[in-house]
Amino acid sequence: MNTISRIAVVGGGTMGNGIAHVAAQSGFATTLVETDQARLDKAIATITKNLDRMVAKEKISQADRDAALGRLGGSLSLADAAAGADLVVEAVNENLELKTRIFRTLDEAAPAHAVLASNTSSISITKLATATRRPEQVIGMHFFNPVPMMKLVELVRAHQTSDAVAEAVRQTAVAMGKEPVTVNDYPGFVSNRVLMPMINEAIGCVHEGVATPEAVDQVMKLGMAHPMGPLRLADFIGLDVCLAILNVLYEGFKDPRYRPNPLLVKMVDAGLLGDKSGRGFYDHTK
Ligand SMILES: NC(=O)c1ccc[n+]([C@@H]2O[C@H](COP(=O)([O-])OP(=O)(O)OC[C@H]3O[C@@H](n4cnc5c(N)ncnc54)[C@H](O)[C@@H]3O)[C@@H](O)[C@H]2O)c1
Repeated sequence: MNTISRIAVVGGGTMGNGIAHVAAQSGFATTLVETDQARLDKAIATITKNLDRMVAKEKISQADRDAALGRLGGSLSLADAAAGADLVVEAVNENLELKTRIFRTLDEAAPAHAVLASNTSSISITKLATATRRPEQVIGMHFFNPVPMMKLVELVRAHQTSDAVAEAVRQTAVAMGKEPVTVNDYPGFVSNRVLMPMINEAIGCVHEGVATPEAVDQVMKLGMAHPMGPLRLADFIGLDVCLAILNVLYEGFKDPRYRPNPLLVKMVDAGLLGDKSGRGFYDHTK
C-alpha cells in the first residue's frame, strides 16, 4: 500500500468543499472536481472564506491559510483528477446510479494503487465496490457536517475492503485531524441506524400529540445532554434526507421498526424540508 499524499475530492457541495478544505489544510495535495466552472469557483470561494474566518478567529495563521490554498487545485475532469490521486473521496449527490457511474470512471482512470472512497450516508459501499475491478480498495469515509468542525469520520468497510486499505485510510483520516471509527457496511452504518430511529420516534411524539417539537427537543437537550434536539437536528439535516435514509433502513432490514412516521412523509410531500426550505419543525425564515 503506497502512502496517501494526493487526494481528489469529487463534488464541491456542502460536504465536498469541507472535505477538500480539511485535506488541503492538513498537508495533502488536493484536487476538487466539479461539473462546471461556476460550481467549482463557488466551492473554492467557500473554502477561502472559511479559511479566512479561521484566520480572523486566530485558529490558524495567515501562512497556514496561504499554504492550504496553495495545495488546493480545481478540475472539471474526473479522469484527470483521478489519474493524479492516491485517494479519491467521492461526495456527489446521494444517487446510486450517479455514484456507480463515477466509481466506474474512477476505477478506469486512477492509478492501480489508488483507494476509492465514498462519503455516502446510506448507499451500500459493498455495491459501489462491486462496480470496480478493485473492490478491496473501496471504502466509505463518512464525514459529518460541517466537516472542518466535526471530529468523526465513520470508516465503513465494504464486504471486500482489505485490512491494509482500511488501515491506510484510517491513518489518512487521523492526518486530517479526524477521529475515525471503523464500522462494517450495513444499512445506515452505525450513525444513521442509531440517529434516524431516534428522530423518527421524536416525530412520532409530535404526531401523536405527546408533546410539541420544542418540548421534545428540550427533553433531549436537558435530560440527555444532546447539544441539539432531534427535531432541530432533523431540520438541519433536511427532512427529505431523513426520509430517504429511513427508507434505506426500512428496505435494507425489511423491519417495520424503521418505518418512516407518516407525519415525516406528509411534511416532505408539503415541501417542509427544514432549514433549506425555510420551514420544517421550526420556522427558519426569521
Ligand atoms: N449534507 C450532509 O449533512 C451529509 C453528511 C454526510 C454525508 N453526506 C453525503 O455526502 C454526499 C454529498 O452531499 P452534499 O450534502 O455535499 O450534496 P450537495 O448537493 O451539497 O453537493 C453535491 C455536489 O456534487 C456535484 N456533482 C454532481 N455530479 C458530479 C460529477 N459527476 N462530478 C463532480 N461533481 C458532481 C454537484 O454539482 C454538487 O455541487 C452525499 O452522498 C450525501 O449523502 C451528506
